[in-house]
Amino acid sequence: MPQVTYVAHGGARQTVDVPVGENVMRGALYNGIDGIVGECGGGLACATCHCYVEDGWAGKLAPPSEAELQMLESATCEVKPNSRLSCQIAMTAALDGLVVDLPEAQY
Ligand code: FES
Repeated sequence: MPQVTYVAHGGARQTVDVPVGENVMRGALYNGIDGIVGECGGGLACATCHCYVEDGWAGKLAPPSEAELQMLESATCEVKPNSRLSCQIAMTAALDGLVVDLPEAQY
């Protein structure tokens, strides 16, 4: 099963299995990882699943939709070129080893 590493704002790293087809937001929630809230359940209506995709991975992801980019504008923390909404990142085998940094806050 592919793995995702979540890096907390303070630098703590947690690596967990995330099934193919599941999204990176749920991967965090199911594994009790702090720093991802996912308030709207993946409906592109909250931006509390904001993350920063680490170098080298952005090009392997499907590009963000216009709706994702618009919702990112309401993220609490700074939006950077590598910002994504983790509920919009669907796991594939090719994403095994994905690393995402978590923002300081989601509210
Ligand atoms: S969980 Fe609400 S936009 Fe991702």
